Amino acid sequence: MSEIAIHTQKLGKSYDGAVYALHDLSLEIPTGAVFGFLGPNGAGKTTTIKLLSGLLKPTEGSCTVLGIQPEKKPSELHRVCGIVTETARMYGRLTGMENMMFFGQAQGLERRESRQRAEILLKSLDLWDSRDKKLADDSTGMVQRLSLARAMIAKPKLLLLDEPTNGLDRESVLHVNSMILDLARREGVTVFLCTHQLRDAQELCDSFGIVSRGKMLACGDLESLSREVGLSLQVRFRLREGKIPDELQRLDDESWGRDIADEEEMPKLISGLVSSGNEIFEAKLVRPSLEDIYSRFVELRGNGK
Ligand SMILES: Nc1ncnc2c1ncn2[C@@H]1O[C@H](COP(=O)(O)OP(=O)(O)OP(=O)(O)O)[C@@H](O)[C@H]1O
Ligand SMILES: [Mg+2]
Repeated sequence: MSEIAIHTQKLGKSYDGAVYALHDLSLEIPTGAVFGFLGPNGAGKTTTIKLLSGLLKPTEGSCTVLGIQPEKKPSELHRVCGIVTETARMYGRLTGMENMMFFGQAQGLERRESRQRAEILLKSLDLWDSRDKKLADDSTGMVQRLSLARAMIAKPKLLLLDEPTNGLDRESVLHVNSMILDLARREGVTVFLCTHQLRDAQELCDSFGIVSRGKMLACGDLESLSREVGLSLQVRFRLREGKIPDELQRLDDESWGRDIADEEEMPKLISGLVSSGNEIFEAKLVRPSLEDIYSRFVELRGNGK
């Protein structure tokens, strides 16, 4: 298999032939990566997921997922790719177990294998006790978890996830996050994840795309994105003050610090402080968070100008 799991080339979609919900998206996501696709409401994230899963046809450009063109061979793609969209796409009149069995077999598993996979997933997503309840009677969080279980039934090589933890309580969110990480690390599953949960995305993803009003503002890992937007590492010291070196600034009542280019500067700063009579209680490197970086990008470039 190619090393690139998802490839898009100037991909775009207009629903009405006038305004582009997505425009000129060019991406290469390597096999095994966990890619976070971030952006405000209406940015084009769901549109992208629908294009990648063959639920929509592109207006411009093209894409391949695991070497397959989604709009040409959707069912071939759906056999190797798990998809979670905003709507559950399951049968309300069937129970959790029946839904899982149905989709397992629809994706080519034998009946016995479907049951085995269903059991594992229903148990691990805490849905076992409600396996015989009709989907229509389940809570939002239960349907959402069942949607994930469905996406994973046939051991997919790639997951397209549109806000998979929407409506889940915190415990379930953590659980789902650790399942995603596990699949990526242990089984090399590639994950394309749309989310508004920036803290979770920072934990889960190794690279990110930030999109706004249909355009990609930036793409890369945390370090390259923070460099691109001019946010740097910061060092913070909590001190009993002696003579403070000129290069440090007061940050608040308790601490002094400054921006640094890299952590190699730290030992020199510490020995400088100690030799000028300061007592250091705490020395901390503060890295810009995904939230900081995201806000800067959307603020600087996301206004559509
Ligand atoms: N079926 C549709 N018909 C017409 N316009 C649509 C359709 N679906 C989405 N749009 C428009 O396309 C744009 C992108 O929407 P999309 O759902 O892809 O955004 P999103 O990034 O997923 O937003 P959210 O964070 O709210 O889920 C929006 O302006 C939206 O109004
Ligand atoms: Mg969406």
